[in-house]
Amino acid sequence: MPGVSLVGSGSACLTAQLTNDALSQRVDTSDDWIATRTGIRQRHIATPQDSLASLATEAARNALAMAEVSATEVDLIVLATSTPDDLFGTACQVQQALGATRAVAFDLTAACSGFVFALVTAAQYIRTGVFKNVVVIGADVLSRWTDWDDRTTCVLFGDGAGAVVLRAAERDRLLGFELCSDGSLNHCLNLAYQPESEVLVGDITVQKGTFAPITMNGREVYKFAVSRVPEVIEKALFRANLTNADIDWLVLHQANQRILDAVADRLGVPAERVVSNMARHGNTSAASIPIAIDEAVRAGKIKAGDVMATAGFGAGLTWGSAIVQWA
Ligand code: ACO
Repeated sequence: MPGVSLVGSGSACLTAQLTNDALSQRVDTSDDWIATRTGIRQRHIATPQDSLASLATEAARNALAMAEVSATEVDLIVLATSTPDDLFGTACQVQQALGATRAVAFDLTAACSGFVFALVTAAQYIRTGVFKNVVVIGADVLSRWTDWDDRTTCVLFGDGAGAVVLRAAERDRLLGFELCSDGSLNHCLNLAYQPESEVLVGDITVQKGTFAPITMNGREVYKFAVSRVPEVIEKALFRANLTNADIDWLVLHQANQRILDAVADRLGVPAERVVSNMARHGNTSAASIPIAIDEAVRAGKIKAGDVMATAGFGAGLTWGSAIVQWA
């Protein structure tokens, strides 16, 4: 069975920065409240010139360059996103923009768990021998769907895109994984369809509409994250035949510094082994883990052979962990 190797990472560079102080001009909040409760100092916001596709393409291009894989060698592109440019899917636009003419491309939606779910999905195609070179992208523009007058949610989110390149290899570096869903908690975090009835003809009524802004029960999501995330990481480590002591880097979905600290504490991972970029990016949903990996790799922190315990969690509710070794 072919193995899966992570051979490149990349992210998009967003220029517009929204600081906590600037946000305080819009809603009744403060840099002190946001920083103390979340660890966030600023987030990036997509400009009107950016699209989900353009950000995802930039991240993928940078990951391919690091991997030294050309676009025409790519067999599959999996785009994890909850904020597509087109509800029919955005991955094909990325395929076209990259010039990945041989690649099949599709979107995958699992909110803030999207990157981990996409990584594991993509790996299955490699393990079965179907594909050799795969680009996995996590990209979200949550600013489109944020209620900028709701201080309980708008301070948390930012826009971004990150990507990794997976390659078939003799040695399998996806060491273990575990994915979970619990629809009974769906109401805790939503970006829900908001229908408006229109009588079409006779007794036929159609539902037209858009999507309501993000709503979240922050306390419930917080409790869920601090209990379920350590558990799912330990299950993935068990499948990898590893223990907590084998974790070189804890790379969690960047939702809240307090969640990162609590999870690291439960797992016994020292603070210097926890990758955190929340202060600069906020919660970028599916993009947060690949951006964190890319920044840590380019900064020379994550090195060849290092074991990363990644974990995503969010709407669905969904959560999952993949234990991967950097090639
Ligand atoms: N500025 C100032 N005050 C605020 C703000 C704000 N931005 N937001 C809330 N407050 C107030 C509240 O009104 C409340 O006031 P009250 O006590 O007078 O009622 C007080 O601050 C405390 O509010 P809490 O909601 O209890 O604050 P908490 O400490 O729980 O922090 C937070 C809220 C940051 C949202 C936290 O619950 C959290 O991080 N939850 C997890 C969110 C998450 O991880 N989401 C991940 C998934 S995202 C995805 O899938 C798309």
